Amino acid sequence: MARLAIVTGGATGIGKAIAHALAGDGDRVVILGRRADALEAAAAELNKATDADRVGWRQVDLTRPDQVEATAQALVDGGRTVDVLVNNAGGISSGPSDRLDELAELWRRDFDGNVLTTVLLTEALRPYLRRPGGRVIAISSVAAFRGAGSYGAAKAALHAWMYGLSAELAADGVTVNVVAPGFIPDTRFWDGRLTQDMYDARVGTIPMARAGTPEEVAAAVRYLAGPDSGYTTGQILQVNGGWVTGRG
Ligand SMILES: NC(=O)c1ccc[n+]([C@@H]2O[C@H](COP(=O)([O-])OP(=O)(O)OC[C@H]3O[C@@H](n4cnc5c(N)ncnc54)[C@H](OP(=O)(O)O)[C@@H]3O)[C@@H](O)[C@H]2O)c1
Repeated sequence: MARLAIVTGGATGIGKAIAHALAGDGDRVVILGRRADALEAAAAELNKATDADRVGWRQVDLTRPDQVEATAQALVDGGRTVDVLVNNAGGISSGPSDRLDELAELWRRDFDGNVLTTVLLTEALRPYLRRPGGRVIAISSVAAFRGAGSYGAAKAALHAWMYGLSAELAADGVTVNVVAPGFIPDTRFWDGRLTQDMYDARVGTIPMARAGTPEEVAAAVRYLAGPDSGYTTGQILQVNGGWVTGRG
């Protein structure tokens, strides 16, 4: 039977590339997100691209415990086991504010959107992960290393969470890792925010002198999701063209 892989935020950007890679390998993939129209279109596109009917979708706001619970139950309905969980959903809300109430709201939004989205679904699916052999992967960011306000802080929190969970699940043969992408402009993440000056400034400080692609991030996830990575757990795999080198 095909493996079951869940990819959050799988309708766009990096998540869609991950879903494409896993479906291309023969996994049954369910993509999750808040916008039904985007999910439906992405699933249709991926099924056409892989010439198979392996990608399904479910609408859910992963910051909402009630919705996450219902989604998790639907995903494992009929006694299914989850082979691969890719916690990719996330985004940036942060910005400067000289009002503390506004600042508190921005920090909460980044924490909810990047940490709770990962923690809630992982906890809901934890009993149903394949043992041994399950794979949990979270997408953090170069921002966790370089510093970037509440967004970077929220992504860094995923690292500490991953270290703890990897230790808890290691004896069950389940691996837990993080992929930390660098600058990946071909994503909704940058929609409407990226000027040419910002692009040039970033590329100018990346040793490889170019941006990364969603497919390059997906390739790292594919390795960590695959059968050859069974002894790799509790790690952060950075995909950033050398922008930040290996420190944890
Ligand atoms: N692009 C970069 O340069 C870059 C660099 C480092 C890390 N990252 C990280 O990579 C991940 C993927 O982002 P991306 O760059 O591919 O941007 P993206 O295209 O905006 O993808 C984010 C996805 O997450 C989903 N999502 C966000 N909040 C959600 C929620 N509460 N519940 C369910 N789904 C939610 C979005 O769908 P809906 O809006 O429909 O819910 C969207 O499909 C993010 O975690 C991001 O922080 C990106």
